[in-house]
Amino acid sequence: MRLADARKDHYRKLAKDQGLRARSAYKLQQLNDSYHLLKKGSKVIDLGCAPGGWLQIATRLVGATGKVVGIDLKPVEPVVGAVIMQGNIEDPEMKVRISETLGGKADVLLSDLAPNVSGVWDIDHARQISLTQTALQFGGTVLKVGGSAIFKVFEGDMLDDLKAELKQNFGKVQLSKPSASRQESSELYVVCMDFRHNTSQ
Ligand SMILES: C[S@@+](CC[C@H](N)C(=O)[O-])C[C@H]1O[C@@H](n2cnc3c(N)ncnc32)[C@H](O)[C@@H]1O
Repeated sequence: MRLADARKDHYRKLAKDQGLRARSAYKLQQLNDSYHLLKKGSKVIDLGCAPGGWLQIATRLVGATGKVVGIDLKPVEPVVGAVIMQGNIEDPEMKVRISETLGGKADVLLSDLAPNVSGVWDIDHARQISLTQTALQFGGTVLKVGGSAIFKVFEGDMLDDLKAELKQNFGKVQLSKPSASRQESSELYVVCMDFRHNTSQ
């Protein structure tokens, strides 16, 4: 078995043993082990939350005093401690509903959003970047000044421009590849800290 397949199998088995819905849950756990963005009491929004792996990790990390709201196009089985909405992040109504449900601005915005892949690299890369830009705009209205965000991205020629855009909005921007993310995949996470301004104002 190739090393990459063995690692994938390892996380899949671990997720099953630990009652986690998706291997991807370990990506958030590992990112948080490195950056400590989600803390007890944090208010968190999870964009593209199905099937709920990140929600499971986020609710554990923020505890009973925190709040987690997730949204996805697809239905998601309930996760104890999270409020889940079915909808499109491109729908302005969803921003309002999420803010109302959260009861204030978020400390952390999570985006593991992934478009339906066409298999044509340029198209998929452009869709992913566009989804991340929508997530960033979403952050502009829902994220606290000083807050943090994690955005899933894919390597490609539009990534530098996206990073530049993120740097205009956050004091610190770092690329990270958690070991639970397949090494042969071009997936990366942009970890952003110290949200500077509210782009909606
Ligand atoms: C990789 S999955 C997320 C996995 C999740 N973090 C977990 O651990 O279970 C990406 C999700 O993004 C969602 N998505 C893509 N575009 C969306 C949109 N415009 N609005 C809401 N959700 C979207 C997809 O439906 C998909 O479920």
